[in-house]
Amino acid sequence: MTRLAGKRALITGAARGIGLAFATAYRAEGAEVVIADIDLDRATASAEAIGARAVRMDVTDPASIEAGVAEAVALMGGLDILINNAALFTAAPIVEITRADYDRVFSVNVAGTLFTLQAAAKQMIAQGTGGKIINMASQAGRRGEALVAVYCATKAAVISLTQSAGLDLIKHGINVNAIAPGVVDGEHWDGVDAFFAKYEGKAPGQKKREVGEAVPHGRMGRAEDLTGMAVFLASPEADYIVAQTYNVDGGNWMS
Ligand SMILES: NC(=O)c1ccc[n+]([C@@H]2O[C@H](COP(=O)([O-])OP(=O)(O)OC[C@H]3O[C@@H](n4cnc5c(N)ncnc54)[C@H](O)[C@@H]3O)[C@@H](O)[C@H]2O)c1
Repeated sequence: MTRLAGKRALITGAARGIGLAFATAYRAEGAEVVIADIDLDRATASAEAIGARAVRMDVTDPASIEAGVAEAVALMGGLDILINNAALFTAAPIVEITRADYDRVFSVNVAGTLFTLQAAAKQMIAQGTGGKIINMASQAGRRGEALVAVYCATKAAVISLTQSAGLDLIKHGINVNAIAPGVVDGEHWDGVDAFFAKYEGKAPGQKKREVGEAVPHGRMGRAEDLTGMAVFLASPEADYIVAQTYNVDGGNWMS
């Protein structure tokens, strides 16, 4: 299938995990893909394996965003799709949250999403051909969690930014929507599991097992469970979808 034939996609944080699954699916659907990640070595190796290209981008740094988007545009001859996927996770009880950790995570998850979206939107507006922007939210943005205040707040902000940017940019033919995964196995969740081992005294792997068993579908998600929505939202079939956040989470959350 080539539902994205001729499309040029930039995916942040796609050196590994969900972003890499998106890049792989987009290549299979005929899109050109540039992976933008702070880890250039891994991004380059991942890109080479799937016939994509890699650029270094730190989404907390405006100059790096500008340079990374410009490089991607030069490599592909334009930009039709952005997936704002780069993010950090953090956890701590409310009384232990530090200003430094708050700033670090908001800088990637919120400022990084907004200003990469802005840079991509400017390029798409200049091209005059519209575009598709997909932000990675989370079930964490749908409700609070005792130990996860900062990450949850960043993902609620991503849902809100998706709504505002969606309303502002549709006049340019740019559809902004978001995907809210539930619990997706991979290196990210290895880190989450370690936080819960620390704060809830759980054995390594125990939190992962518990959250997987609690999913109505009966297991944790896999990165590949999300690719269908990512391809759909980037395709012409989604032209009339604006400012929405879709849960792809095995039934964890209904909204
Ligand atoms: N895994 C899950 O359970 C889950 C659940 C809900 C939402 N999400 C969201 O899905 C997205 C992908 O998650 P994942 O599990 O693949 O994460 P991951 O941690 O495996 O990958 C994140 C990628 O972002 C990159 N990155 C980090 N900081 C960056 C920066 N400043 N600039 C550029 N790149 C940077 C990392 O190098 C890494 O390649 C994230 O937005 C995450 O919040 C994940």
